[in-house]
Amino acid sequence: MDILDVITSRRSIRSFLNKPVEEEKLVKILDSARWAPTAGNTQECRFIVVKEQAARMQIAEACLGQFWIASAPLLIIVCAKMDIIGAIYGEIGRKSFAFMDSALAAQNMMLMAHSLGLGSCMVASFEEEYVKRVLSLPEEVKPLAIIPIGYPTQIPKPPYRKNLESVVFFEQYGKMWIKHVSGTMSGPAFLKREELL
Ligand SMILES: Cc1cc2nc3c(=O)[nH]c(=O)nc-3n(C[C@H](O)[C@H](O)[C@H](O)COP(=O)(O)O)c2cc1C
Repeated sequence: MDILDVITSRRSIRSFLNKPVEEEKLVKILDSARWAPTAGNTQECRFIVVKEQAARMQIAEACLGQFWIASAPLLIIVCAKMDIIGAIYGEIGRKSFAFMDSALAAQNMMLMAHSLGLGSCMVASFEEEYVKRVLSLPEEVKPLAIIPIGYPTQIPKPPYRKNLESVVFFEQYGKMWIKHVSGTMSGPAFLKREELL
């Protein structure tokens, strides 16, 4: 698949077949996280793979009762080592870089999973302390995203996306960027250089 096809056809999947994820696919997914950019190349994200049924149920409970999460054969919990990132970058490291590093790793993994025929979903609504207890995370390790992964039972229709004109500005906030965009609101907009300005 072309990169744009991978990006635009990925959907959040919340229902999974009772079918395990092949180990070689899991390795590819984890390896894609390793290649995500990190602030200063610090690489202070950590990834916990959870397959055990009881632990998946506990994590689903910690995600404010989103029990569909437990139907995924595996969960990857993306964590940041806050002590290191805080020591290097201070407040901006703890409040911003840690979250950005984790989100980029999560997106890499979701796109890789999708390209391998798997479904996933970013989950960030959870009780942090509960997740830390279930996974025996040390104090300084902060869970930031939970990604259930498995074979989808169905692919949902693409949800609404705002069009480019309403989210992109030129030079200054509020100043229209795009005079002409080919494509539609529901599909990707392909910009041709000569069509800008
Ligand atoms: C930071 C963040 C937190 C999210 N948390 C949840 C969540 O707790 N539960 C859930 O079902 N989906 C969650 N999602 C998935 C979004 O609902 C989903 O990406 C959005 O509806 C767009 O759908 P799409 O991913 O299929 O394009 C989260 C997404 C992001 C980026």
